[in-house]
Amino acid sequence: MTEAKKTTGNVEMKDIANLCKRRGFIFQDSEIYGGIGSVWDYGPLGVELKKNVKDSWWERMVYERTDVEGLDAAILMNPETWKASGHIASFADLLVDCRGCKKRFRMDKISGKECPECGGELTEPRSFNLMFKTQVGSVEGQAQDVYLRPETAQGIFVNFENVLTVSRRKLPFGVAQIGKAFRNEITTGNFIFRSREFEQMELEFFVKPGEDEKWYEYWLGERMDWYCSLGIRKEHLRLREHRKDELAHYAKKCHDVEFLFPMGWAELEGIANRTDYDLKKHSELSGRDLVYFDAAAGESYTPYVIEPSGGIDRAVLAFLVDAYRTEVVRERKRVYLSLAPRLAPIKAAVLPLLKNRPEVVEMAHRLRDDLKGGYRVIYDDTAAIGRLYRRQDEIGTPFCVTVDVDSLSDGKVTVRDRDTMEQDRIEASQVKNVLKSRLGSFSE
Ligand code: GAP
Repeated sequence: MTEAKKTTGNVEMKDIANLCKRRGFIFQDSEIYGGIGSVWDYGPLGVELKKNVKDSWWERMVYERTDVEGLDAAILMNPETWKASGHIASFADLLVDCRGCKKRFRMDKISGKECPECGGELTEPRSFNLMFKTQVGSVEGQAQDVYLRPETAQGIFVNFENVLTVSRRKLPFGVAQIGKAFRNEITTGNFIFRSREFEQMELEFFVKPGEDEKWYEYWLGERMDWYCSLGIRKEHLRLREHRKDELAHYAKKCHDVEFLFPMGWAELEGIANRTDYDLKKHSELSGRDLVYFDAAAGESYTPYVIEPSGGIDRAVLAFLVDAYRTEVVRERKRVYLSLAPRLAPIKAAVLPLLKNRPEVVEMAHRLRDDLKGGYRVIYDDTAAIGRLYRRQDEIGTPFCVTVDVDSLSDGKVTVRDRDTMEQDRIEASQVKNVLKSRLGSFSE
């Protein structure tokens, strides 16, 4: 056993951003041109991590339940949608500019009447809509203004009748969706925490009015549990109820799931009771009666909606922050990501101890081929074994499997655990089963 001194706890955002860039999780978008503010690209490892977060959410919200259907609506929508939803009228920040240093601030983020940077005089507040506008149609003068959706939720509301009809659902039931959303954010920073292009994972859960508060409580617990089941430490999560003056225009009640990010507690997900606001507004503006006929009660009504709405990029960031560990091993710093195996971009790395022995290399390749299927397993011989282990630790690979000269005669290989660094010598033919049992049920 290797002696290790834990020094976990003080991760800074720059450590995470640095690791993400160096190892290929997240890059600044269009970096070769100097980038574009608060837009990010996911690299070879980031795309795997993000996909694993999305798949885990979908499994929990759709596959493990009997009362949820999925949907994938378009980003562009008829602009009437945003009139009905209230986003054209009220999806705005109040901004002030400094007449001295010319910096721009959100009114709700500053206290006092002077510029927080230089003490200069501030302008009167102006309203700034956060939706990106573009045009549909190529004929000049006839093009129609449309918006990039600022939330995925409205795609669900406008499809309420379609999904209800085809699925023959009875209340309560939900519609889940994962997709891109866009906001022309003013205050950015903190790496991917607040981006202009991001992804949401949203569930609109339709319930009978009067049963909304019971379901609201249910979803608070269920969502907290999902984050914990994927390894976020309980003490780094909390629920915070919105004050009346911060509730969105559609919400009767809202809680944020907050995570302890390096800059402090901040919103990871919002869980709102949207009442019948959206369906009623869409009914009014579209002229389509978006009501539900309750056959058992013999009455029609507009369902209430409970909405757990999470940001995938924020979840990715929280999982990275919470998994980041450092320790000192034999007087050297070791950095590793203690990601839940379900989320790890690469589940196992097969490493030959001696790459100048063709039989060892061949056996390692055969083993990798045997392990592949359903998740990512890689082969790597581009450095000495110590460096290869460090690389895999830093990207959160739960297991390294090493093939050495003895493997050629005894058929055994070494399986090394990322977190404990313990090593087991097992039959090469057993590695697949051992990994399956250690990685958990998703790898079946
Ligand atoms: N449909 C409700 C809705 O969109 P929201 O609280 O504005 O509610 C939900 O957004 C979640 O989307 C947030 O909790 C956050 O995780 C994510 N999110 C919102 N704006 C974001 C941004 N600019 N960058 C990254 N994630 C964002």
